[in-house]
Amino acid sequence: MEEAIDAYISRHIDEEGDYLHALYRDTNIRLLRPRMASGHLQGRLLKMLVRMIRPRNIVEIGTYSGYSALSMAEGLEEGSMLYTFEINDEQEDFTRPWIEGSAYADKIRFCIGDALELIPRMSLTFEMAFVDGDKRKYTDYYDMLLPRLPHGGYIIADNTLWDGHVLEESHDRQTTGIQAFNDRVAADDRVEKVILPIRDGLTLIRKK
Ligand SMILES: C[S@@+](CC[C@H](N)C(=O)[O-])C[C@H]1O[C@@H](n2cnc3c(N)ncnc32)[C@H](O)[C@@H]1O
Repeated sequence: MEEAIDAYISRHIDEEGDYLHALYRDTNIRLLRPRMASGHLQGRLLKMLVRMIRPRNIVEIGTYSGYSALSMAEGLEEGSMLYTFEINDEQEDFTRPWIEGSAYADKIRFCIGDALELIPRMSLTFEMAFVDGDKRKYTDYYDMLLPRLPHGGYIIADNTLWDGHVLEESHDRQTTGIQAFNDRVAADDRVEKVILPIRDGLTLIRKK
């Protein structure tokens, strides 16, 4: 049933386009853990969110193969920019050609390094952040990003239901990292928040 619904959704939303389709295929053929890539539905949702929020700048924590970065870049207005951070330098050989060979090369700055170190050093301003890095560090990302976000800015966090593991009592540090993040956001009066149960859970956070 779930697969049939997924297929139905895919047939009734915007197409991902040939370039992203080829990137998704290449990700599945050449990379370990290809399930980390956003894919068709989430990619279209991210683009739609960018259209709605109309950020001047976006930061993304966790580039991986570049699928979500390229999806968000599609929604950016002229003169706007996406800064995407990837801590794993071995990812660069795969991802950089896909970003630089795309129609959005001039809208994306692909930075290799730890977003927790680089973003404060670059003193970036941004109206939207997409958090999709190390699940153990989600509260650290939140604490770093929120003070830098203007009022009315958004943080979008991926994998916040962690395949349902958030319901379990767990010692796995990725699960406890996500649980701590969800508890922290839920208790934070500075933000409005909603969790969408799409894919692995997507939390939308708006700074009041
Ligand atoms: C789930 S994947 C990202 C998927 C991609 N955003 C997408 O939706 O197509 C997570 C990536 O975050 C990277 N990462 C983990 N911690 C990071 C950090 N502190 N700064 C930057 N990248 C990080 C990992 O190396 C990995 O490639």
